[in-house]
Amino acid sequence: MKFFIDTANLAEIREAHSLGLVDGVTTNPSLCSKVGVCDPEGFRRLICEICELVQGPVSAEVIATEAEAMAQEARNLAAIHRHVVIKIPMTAAGLKATRLLAAEGIKVNVTLIFQPVQALLAAKAGAAYVSPFIGRLDDINQRGMELVEQILTIYDNYGFDTEVIVASIRHPLHVLEAAMAGADVATIPYAVLMRLINHPLTDIGLAKFLADWQKNRPSP
Ligand code: E4P
Repeated sequence: MKFFIDTANLAEIREAHSLGLVDGVTTNPSLCSKVGVCDPEGFRRLICEICELVQGPVSAEVIATEAEAMAQEARNLAAIHRHVVIKIPMTAAGLKATRLLAAEGIKVNVTLIFQPVQALLAAKAGAAYVSPFIGRLDDINQRGMELVEQILTIYDNYGFDTEVIVASIRHPLHVLEAAMAGADVATIPYAVLMRLINHPLTDIGLAKFLADWQKNRPSP
């Protein structure tokens, strides 16, 4: 399973990358705004810097909502770097834009997927990736991981090569469940990624090893 990091924060991306845990990055307008980037030029610079750093797929989301405008914005974003993937929301206009862009060889990540047939439509439109938002479904008492399992079954039934990015991850168990389900990618917030590394028994075990080593050392 590939690990993407779900952030627009360069310091977080750098740190996770240095741990070898970043196969790609997903951003969205909220995440960019959180790091103070909400203008087109700043956004282009940020996306370019992230692409250079990770050398893997970096999702950049369009702001336009009409199909032609989305496609034009997407072409401009795709020209920033060969690793840019265009994030397009799951709407009728988004599907039209996805179809246009896929025909031009531009990779699209269809985002804001909340039911399995939306993912089927996105794959039929030529999406390279879909992003089911599991945490937001869990938040309203629907099992988000069930959506991922259904999408994987549908794609397997019909041989779609659209990759499933498990998004809106809230905690380490979501990552475990995504891996157990066989999802292609989990896009993980930095804080959750760090929590995957640690276990209290690892810390206790290490402290004991070091203490035992000290205990039986011959005195100088
Ligand atoms: C990633 O592609 C999504 O934009 C992100 O995971 C959404 O997460 P949230 O539901 O925590 O905002």
